Amino acid sequence: MGRAEKVVLAYSGGVDTSVCIPYLKEEWGVKEVITLAADLGQGEELGPIQKKAEDSGASISLVADAKADFIKDYAFPAIQANALYENRYPLSTALARPLIAKLLVEAAEKYGADAVAHGCTGKGNDQVRFDVSIAALNPNLKVLAPAREWGMSREQTIAYGEQFGIPAPVKKSSPYSIDRNLLGRSIEAGPLEDPWTEPLEEIYAMTKAIADTPNEPDYIEIGFERGIPVSLNGQFLAPLDLVGQLNEHVGNHGVGRIDMVENRLVGIKSREIYEAPALLVLIQAHRDLESLTLTADVSHYKRGIEETYSQLVYNGLWYSPLKGALDAFVQQTQERVSGTVRVKLFKGNATIVGRKSETSLYTPDLATYGAEDQFDHKAAEGFIYVWGLPTRVWSEKMRG
Ligand code: ARG
Repeated sequence: MGRAEKVVLAYSGGVDTSVCIPYLKEEWGVKEVITLAADLGQGEELGPIQKKAEDSGASISLVADAKADFIKDYAFPAIQANALYENRYPLSTALARPLIAKLLVEAAEKYGADAVAHGCTGKGNDQVRFDVSIAALNPNLKVLAPAREWGMSREQTIAYGEQFGIPAPVKKSSPYSIDRNLLGRSIEAGPLEDPWTEPLEEIYAMTKAIADTPNEPDYIEIGFERGIPVSLNGQFLAPLDLVGQLNEHVGNHGVGRIDMVENRLVGIKSREIYEAPALLVLIQAHRDLESLTLTADVSHYKRGIEETYSQLVYNGLWYSPLKGALDAFVQQTQERVSGTVRVKLFKGNATIVGRKSETSLYTPDLATYGAEDQFDHKAAEGFIYVWGLPTRVWSEKMRG
């Protein structure tokens, strides 16, 4: 008896996931492997990948275009939550995992598979995200992770694949490990493993070097409706187009790079470089619009929710009761978060230079220092007396 009969494998077309196909069959006694490649805008053609899977021994190779869902159902809620892990990483890789898990589970159910599989190793966050998301969506499915157990080096993996007709990579493989989708690129390993080493310009693909950016600033206007970005420079756009155009625009000004050492769930610190031009600017603009449209207490309370939300997403708990409850909170807060944010892009900086909203809580008559001032200055005195009373009493008692 093998570990499973029929398996749906998350497939990227790379050597490691290709080797998973014969490995599952030969070593773990799996009878049938179906591969599933999710198109999340990695920017490669998935047609050849399909053939590659079949050549490597897959019985069926599925390709799912999940780009629109990725933006609408995963990126947009994260923007509403201003989700930044450790206050910096906009979760561009992490957000893709629960969606891929959902596609895997749906395929397993459709084709009557008893397990799903992925090619993650045992050191990263992604294995956690896959395993936990799959368990949440269908706890009856087994999860197989061959690369977590096989203990083969890169060379051994390639040699193993060659026995089953999987060609060794033609070009000298890059020292970096790169994950890419519509929202961004995550780059790690190779020379980046030394946190003191400055990244070479060659690792970037979505953002220009400052030296190559325009010498004039660009202004863009991002329109939001209930916390969802809907327009760019007054033009309403489908989610996919909005993010695509914004990536171009923002990346062209060298905006959207992050170089950080982050804390993985599995206890390891890792140095990671990110590019996420559109996502970062959208979060920045969205947060700014909230400053105009949310009451102070909601806004302050939401900061704590955002922090927890980001940790949950990073730590693989997208499909969890707490995440669901936080989603409900966030949704409720977004009712009035509609309006336009004006952003200036110049030499690696995105600066918010204006915001307006029909649901703005900003009140010029109260804020102004001019003659129109409606604020009751005398009322401040009594307020401060009460506000400061505990401190006054404490001070008096301290002095005896
Ligand atoms: N550290 C990021 C995360 O856990 C990205 C992981 C994938 N990165 C990569 N270079 N393969 O979400």
